[in-house]
Amino acid sequence: MKIDITGLQDFFSPQELARMTGLAKNANQLLTKGKGAGSEFTGWVNLPKKYNKKEFDKILKTGAKIRRTSDAVVVIGIGGSYLGAKAALEFLAHPFQNQLDKKKRKGPEMYFAGINLSGDYHEGLLDVLEGKDWSIIMISKSGTTTEPAIAFRLLKEKLEAKYGQKKAAKRIFAITDGKKGALRKLAKQEGYETFVVPDDVGGRFSVLTAVGLLPLAAAGINIKSLMKGAALALADTQEPTTQNPALLYAAIRNILYNKGKTTEIMVSFEPRFQYLVEWWKQLYGESEGKEQKGIFPASAMFTADLHSLGQYIQEGRRNLFETVLAIDQVKSKMKIPSLGHDNDGLGYLEGKRLHYVNNTAMEGVRNAHVAGGVPNLQLTISKANEETLGYLFYFFERACAISGYMLGVNPFDQPGVEAYKRNMFELLGKPGY
Ligand code: PA5
Repeated sequence: MKIDITGLQDFFSPQELARMTGLAKNANQLLTKGKGAGSEFTGWVNLPKKYNKKEFDKILKTGAKIRRTSDAVVVIGIGGSYLGAKAALEFLAHPFQNQLDKKKRKGPEMYFAGINLSGDYHEGLLDVLEGKDWSIIMISKSGTTTEPAIAFRLLKEKLEAKYGQKKAAKRIFAITDGKKGALRKLAKQEGYETFVVPDDVGGRFSVLTAVGLLPLAAAGINIKSLMKGAALALADTQEPTTQNPALLYAAIRNILYNKGKTTEIMVSFEPRFQYLVEWWKQLYGESEGKEQKGIFPASAMFTADLHSLGQYIQEGRRNLFETVLAIDQVKSKMKIPSLGHDNDGLGYLEGKRLHYVNNTAMEGVRNAHVAGGVPNLQLTISKANEETLGYLFYFFERACAISGYMLGVNPFDQPGVEAYKRNMFELLGKPGY
């Protein structure tokens, strides 16, 4: 991954960067030594090297079985039990995966549930499952989260109506706590195949456990390469070197935050990044946004959002900075065709690759935003594949923990997410509320 900081030069000095990188090194040490706040949830730090090989092989085997037996898979989960797999699928799979002819797809159609409480959404989902062979991957670390629990109850009923209780149980895969929680209990009672979310890995840091890996294996994604990429990022981010990209990113964020840049917009010109950015938003928002502190993580997908948020970014309140995710070499060689006339005024682009036009747009936007007072950082990966994605996942996790420590918060708890639940349960009449 290349980090381009030329769009930051107008906003802070090399001396400021050196000073803040020093603080980032200290924070990284805390993480490595397990001495920082929330250290009981830092099992993800060495996961790319020290994952459970037996569980990993079981994931590969079960993934292959799901592919063989299912036209469609519904992955149920929310927050950290959803976004990693969704991000990876959007990043790696065909952009129209579910609509693609079965023979051209690597795996089954993939759907997600448990991410809302909408009846219309769930009925619509049942419509597309009609007539297909399907399976459920149910993910909840606590095993008690309301949205996925409701989706599971709805879908389990339909699956059992289609296959009968016994056969349906063979199509349900549960990923949850090793011992406790309603889902663990239910899985035991009904005989579902189960996978464990390790105690020391919190939801939003769990993409490299079965939480992310089983849905991806079921979709035909090469999870070995994903882990390899993550291991490369671990090697690059654990040492206190000047090349350590996690130190650099965490330092830059904290310098800008201290200068009043309280919103970071993660931006990309490639739609495959759309859900990686959603995953990043959850990771950073839940990790840093506490004690009345934290950078607000926002996102924009360009060029579409240049026609909606572009005005604000260019000329609105100057509390923003932008982090751009880019890809060096894309697969498509598509070019702007020649027409033999210039009626649409695009003659000047004839024969140019779309990737060139996209990159040029990216450069033009960057220059405009920097001139408008928006610091711009660019992270570029060489290609879109499992390895580079694994790298990005781990890099962002590590930088998030470092950045959270620099901010002075515990990046691994989420006390604020309980408030809405208390109110909702009280209004719904849940016993005990
Ligand atoms: O990051 C987190 O801890 C949360 O976003 C959880 O992943 C989310 O609330 C879902 O929790 P659970 O997996 O317990 O259902």
